[in-house]
Amino acid sequence: MTNNKALLAWVEDMASLCQPESVYWCNGSEDEFNAMADLLIRKGAFIKLNPAKRPDSYFCTSDPSDVARVEDRTYICSLKKEDAGPTNNWEEPALMKETLKGLFSGCMKGRTMYVIPYSMGPLGSKISHIGIELTDSPYVVVNMNLMTRMGKKVLDILGDGDFVKGLHSVGVPLETTQADVPWPCNKTKYIVHFPEERSIMSFGSGYGGNALLGKKCFALRIASAMARDEGWMAEHMLIVGITNPEGHKRYIAAAFPSACGKTNLAMLTPTIPGWKVETVGDDIAWMKFGKDGRLYAINPEAGFFGVAPGTSMKTNPNALLSATKKSIFTNVALTEDYDVWWEGLTEDKPAKLIDWLRKEWTPKTGRVAAHPNSRFTAPAYQCPVIDPKWEDPEGVPIDAILFGGRRASVIPLVAEARDWQHGTYMGATISSEMTAAAVGGLGQLRHDPFAMLPFCGYHMGDYFQHWLNIGKNADASKLPKIYSVNWFRKDENGKFIWPGFGDNIRVLKWIFERLEGSGDAHDSAFGIVPAKDAIDLKGLSLSRDDMKKLFEVDLNKAIAEVGDIREYFKKFGDRLPVEMTKELDAYEERLRSL
Ligand code: OXD
Ligand code: MN
Repeated sequence: MTNNKALLAWVEDMASLCQPESVYWCNGSEDEFNAMADLLIRKGAFIKLNPAKRPDSYFCTSDPSDVARVEDRTYICSLKKEDAGPTNNWEEPALMKETLKGLFSGCMKGRTMYVIPYSMGPLGSKISHIGIELTDSPYVVVNMNLMTRMGKKVLDILGDGDFVKGLHSVGVPLETTQADVPWPCNKTKYIVHFPEERSIMSFGSGYGGNALLGKKCFALRIASAMARDEGWMAEHMLIVGITNPEGHKRYIAAAFPSACGKTNLAMLTPTIPGWKVETVGDDIAWMKFGKDGRLYAINPEAGFFGVAPGTSMKTNPNALLSATKKSIFTNVALTEDYDVWWEGLTEDKPAKLIDWLRKEWTPKTGRVAAHPNSRFTAPAYQCPVIDPKWEDPEGVPIDAILFGGRRASVIPLVAEARDWQHGTYMGATISSEMTAAAVGGLGQLRHDPFAMLPFCGYHMGDYFQHWLNIGKNADASKLPKIYSVNWFRKDENGKFIWPGFGDNIRVLKWIFERLEGSGDAHDSAFGIVPAKDAIDLKGLSLSRDDMKKLFEVDLNKAIAEVGDIREYFKKFGDRLPVEMTKELDAYEERLRSL
């Protein structure tokens, strides 16, 4: 299996701490995936979907209390408190380890400990990194099989090398006479990161972002700290390739807070003829500088863990088509013919369903059939528009970076940053109306700098500085241009003004033209915005007046927001780079001179 001494010793140590009945090394094979799925069926967590409709796919329901990431139980336990910063929970690492030792002690009794070797990024790429997750959850094994490159091939590449350690348990030991439940989880939850050690300990939850440790825990929280130390970038960004009708291709990366349509943008079906969008990744980008001085990105993941509700053949056909086989559906609803359904999948609601609570459901039931944060897990290679270079070990060169949030007002449809520093400020000041991806107050506006608020593994002020340093150390002419976008502006009646989805290509087209040196634009208080008629609206029934509203500055609201940002920036104390205050001051001055 492996001769990696550090790995063997760690597995042995963790097994003696957690006391599983057995230890199983995952090989990542098809047979293993099927055996694990069968086990989950026997446990009552999985139901096999109709093979004639959706081969090799499964319906799964979680415990109703274990449906989202638990940000208030998520910790960055750096050696010093000030290195975790004001946006993270922190606890003295030694103390936290004591607490966790107590919880993990004997926590896998009666269960199997699965050893999952996985690579974040294409096998063997210089941008990739290897992790090992130890877990007592077969649900984690099958999801990691789809979401990462995992198994024996990873151990072969690892050799004697270093890896990120991840220990995960659902936290429900089984005494000899105790029957298991379909979705074991513990009321006490801890999602803990030790950035200096590059290790993760996750206890009590079986849910995606808490339990699939390669994703948010490693690829963002631990990797962001690694990236700071090593001069690269680990970002909460999708990556797409855009090709214009002349066949010229450019890659862009885009950061949006959770459940703001990242997967939709990543797989967009353009409404302008001749344009093509291809997917490299829908959630996370790791970017390093190439020898030519440009930034190259890989998608560290191998699958999509997308939000199901709202996904339809109209809104995102490519996401649906990615999940036509070999997929897992968690907390959606089950149809009478053993297929899946969720709100927004079809206009008409099915007459009868089994809902995510495993209860009978009809349109009269008066509650949603699928949980708002229900998810599909699908392998990326099944995506009909997967980019030919999505597994290129060199990554793809990034020409533009987009930042966006869900904002009913203030933020225009699109604006270009004047330079990298201004773009860094745009990223630092993202805020968004909250969604169901995290436990918390739906609809409230929250600051989510770089869409990294729940994912940054160190002090957010230092993270802003890291972005500035990246800019300072690079050849400015080779850096990606930065844009702020907002698909979610509402009119006075509370209706979205911009159609979004496939029509977002119209904004991407303008960005593409800017990158090519064309694309008419003028300066505004917020940034460089499209000139009148520079956004292609052909075939769209959007009035001039509506278009104006998408860029309108409500001076009172904008100035109030400046005050709010100033207050927010205070949180970061002396770790806030002065450049951020300078940008804010300049923005305020531009507003006041309007
Ligand atoms: C996700 C998230 O699941 O950002 O991707 O919450
Ligand atoms: Mn995400």
